[in-house]
Amino acid sequence: VSNGHVLRAGGAADIDRLLAFWRTSAEDTDREDDRVAVERLLLRDPEALILAVEDDDIVGSVIAGWDGWRWHLYRIAVRQDRRQRGIAAALIAAAEARFAAQGARRVDAMVLEGNTLGQTAWAALGYAPQQQWRRWVRRLDGPVQPAPP
Ligand SMILES: CC(C)(COP(=O)(O)OP(=O)(O)OC[C@H]1O[C@@H](n2cnc3c(N)ncnc32)[C@H](O)[C@@H]1OP(=O)(O)O)[C@@H](O)C(=O)NCCC(=O)NCCS
Repeated sequence: VSNGHVLRAGGAADIDRLLAFWRTSAEDTDREDDRVAVERLLLRDPEALILAVEDDDIVGSVIAGWDGWRWHLYRIAVRQDRRQRGIAAALIAAAEARFAAQGARRVDAMVLEGNTLGQTAWAALGYAPQQQWRRWVRRLDGPVQPAPP
């Protein structure tokens, strides 16, 4: 507990509010989040979703995902009226503690090139971009076509 928020694992009962929270507070991208996707995450790894809550309102989130090989962070977001109070730092510290207990030595996150705020926060928390990598993607749910730029 700090600054009035509590960190806890998110569960099935949180999904609707979580999706609404992401729509208003998370990084804007080609988001395809839905209830089924979050249910699948929780089924596979019930501890992966970490929430910051205040009086049961969601004020922050992170997904701390281990795919059995590498450790990845997704959906770090803090409600606008609760930013710059250390909530993201607390969420990421909790995720990193979880990862360390699993044997992780390195963790990564995808950050949009134009997301200056996100980059500032990641840098403040000790993360640095790897300039030599780019993400290569291909969709599996449609005709094979070149990935968008
Ligand atoms: C990025 C985000 C999660 C940060 O959440 P937050 O709770 O405000 O962050 P914290 O208060 O824990 O701050 C973490 C660090 O980032 C820095 N930081 C955060 N917001 C900042 C700002 N607006 N200006 C300068 N530094 C900032 C802080 O200084 C802090 O470093 P410090 O502890 O060394 O001082 C939040 O701004 C957000 O939800 N943004 C929209 C979603 C998004 O872009 N997420 C990132 C996706 S990659």
